[in-house]
Amino acid sequence: MANTGNGAAMTADELVAAGIPDQWYALLPADWVKDEPVGITRMGKRLVLWRDADDRIHVQYDRCPHRGARLSQGHVLDGLVTCPYHGLQINPDGTVAKVPAYPGCKVEGMHGVRTFPSVVKGGCVFAWFGEGEAAPVEFPFEFDDPEWSSFICTATWKGNYMLALENLVDPMHGTYAHAKSYTLAYGAQTDEMEVEKTDHGFVISRTLQKGVNFDWTEYAYTGADWVRLDLPYPKGAGPGGMFRILGYVTPIDANSHQVFFWRLRKIDGWQRDLWRFMYKSRLEERHWNVLEQDRVIVEEAEVPESELLYQHDIGVTQVRRLMARRAKDYLKSLDAPRVAAE
Ligand code: FES
Ligand SMILES: [Fe+2]
Repeated sequence: MANTGNGAAMTADELVAAGIPDQWYALLPADWVKDEPVGITRMGKRLVLWRDADDRIHVQYDRCPHRGARLSQGHVLDGLVTCPYHGLQINPDGTVAKVPAYPGCKVEGMHGVRTFPSVVKGGCVFAWFGEGEAAPVEFPFEFDDPEWSSFICTATWKGNYMLALENLVDPMHGTYAHAKSYTLAYGAQTDEMEVEKTDHGFVISRTLQKGVNFDWTEYAYTGADWVRLDLPYPKGAGPGGMFRILGYVTPIDANSHQVFFWRLRKIDGWQRDLWRFMYKSRLEERHWNVLEQDRVIVEEAEVPESELLYQHDIGVTQVRRLMARRAKDYLKSLDAPRVAAE
């Protein structure tokens, strides 16, 4: 057990449940941040996201250093996030830029707002939740590969985020939970699962059925946790090969989380245009319906203290083991002096 710095001693399992610090998390689609600041909660922290005059997005703790008003209730003025209460303006580095009500005020230049290192990738804002310098993060290659065309979809779900992550490393639920769906209503309902280690995680797959349904998931930790999976598409869904999904899950607080799914196809030219048109006009709604099937199960699940796990749950146990190990390493690092403390 170790102290996490907020006064609470936590076990590794509790830390996994809360969200492991010192790693990157998806926050929200970048185009949701327009001219005004946006307030969200992620990893139990209230955050403000805002765009400066150069269109760069900044992620900061959503609290004015003067009297604590939420910066996200203010505006962006002269390219700076501006508190709604007394007009204090904050720089991207978290220092006070101006106190318009009292020019020359001594708090100008003082540091007052925590800034989270952030990056936009795949059209989404990601931020580093840790102390000191951000660790490197690698993203799935599809985000930078022009051969892949994608749509991002995100939703807020109730329940702990681990339930959503575990749902994704459990391909066998596809033939049951999604038996009545457009893309997943195929394949045998009996199988055996196998896990293969990769450099950054593992692939869990069905041993008997390949390329028929949701038959495998790749889980990876590359500075952030994410998953990749392919779904065969019926012919009526237009041109192109497999329908790929990349998924990220971010804790909001102990009882809610934000799921992110990139829906991708490796497709070019007029076929890409056709697929994108079909996606917007018909397919997107169907995919939301499939996601709803997951949501209602995940949101209502109450995990028993002693789950009766069986062979198909090797993905679930594996992801728990890997994350618990990372949480333990983090807790151990708190016992050691931190070089890059604030
Ligand atoms: S609380 Fe923000 S300016 Fe006073
Ligand atoms: Fe599902």
